[in-house]
Amino acid sequence: MTDKRKPVFLVIGAGAGIGGHAAARFAAGGYHAVLARRSDEDGLARLVGEIDAAGGSASGTLLNAAEDGTIEELVERVERDIGPIEVALYNLGAQIGNRTLHDTPHRTFELGWRLGCYGVFRLAHAAFSAMVERGKGSLLVTSATSAVRGNAGQHSHAAAMGGRRMLCQTLNAEFGPQGIHVAHIVVDGAVDAPDTLGKLLGDKFEPFKAAKGEDGVIDPGALAETYWHLAQQPRNCWTHEVDARPWTDVAWWNDNPAPEINSAGKGFAGPGSK
Ligand SMILES: NC(=O)c1ccc[n+]([C@@H]2O[C@H](COP(=O)([O-])OP(=O)(O)OC[C@H]3O[C@@H](n4cnc5c(N)ncnc54)[C@H](OP(=O)(O)O)[C@@H]3O)[C@@H](O)[C@H]2O)c1
Repeated sequence: MTDKRKPVFLVIGAGAGIGGHAAARFAAGGYHAVLARRSDEDGLARLVGEIDAAGGSASGTLLNAAEDGTIEELVERVERDIGPIEVALYNLGAQIGNRTLHDTPHRTFELGWRLGCYGVFRLAHAAFSAMVERGKGSLLVTSATSAVRGNAGQHSHAAAMGGRRMLCQTLNAEFGPQGIHVAHIVVDGAVDAPDTLGKLLGDKFEPFKAAKGEDGVIDPGALAETYWHLAQQPRNCWTHEVDARPWTDVAWWNDNPAPEINSAGKGFAGPGSK
């Protein structure tokens, strides 16, 4: 029997940056957006309220994706009570700032892997069977420069994000033929994201944005258009990986990773960038 309910866009990691903007974009396109984030109840209510006010349909929940069972329970609940998950976005990062090896506790490394890599595995595990049964579905995975390049102080982050990228490729190999589109989005630059980069930089966030200028920081609303496009692609031209960076940034493969060069102004040296 065909499911007559609205298709669902589920985002794990929905703050006021990419996650919230992607939810708003899919809601504007006719999906019911389900927003999940860890701790900020007021922020969650605000994002859901903004989508409602714009005439869209959305609901939200708090969950800690690092805890076993949480993503699985949410997927089951959404499929049962709200609607079929047509597009899922795994948007959590695992950035902890730059830390030397000996300043990276074992538990921090493991948490990075849980958030950066294992969570994608768990979401795919939970959501793909129903998608396969319906013969369609998309998993979008927000990622970072660390998925393609190791860098000083990024042991936990780069290992987790690199694993995420390879996981996306293996998921594609198995599930592409079954109608599921997995897209890995390399965000190669700073995002105007107050709940993540904003919190990491604290009172340096606004001066940082001002110094970078409007072409120097990714507008999450503009990036959300890319997410929308990826999920709407016909399967004769699926994109499996895409990258995005601000106009004034140097692409990761041209950037000099030496910290002293970065701090001299060539490239971004702040925590939480790439
Ligand atoms: N921001 C950047 O400059 C930047 C640069 C490159 C790549 N990226 C990538 O972009 C993605 C994040 O997008 P964004 O920065 O725009 O952030 P965002 O969508 O504004 O917010 C992400 C949200 O994830 C939630 N979260 C964190 N840990 C969680 C957990 N354990 N369980 C559930 N939710 C959790 C946080 O919720 P609470 O606030 O409620 O705790 C946070 O608000 C990541 O994949 C990151 O690698 C970001």
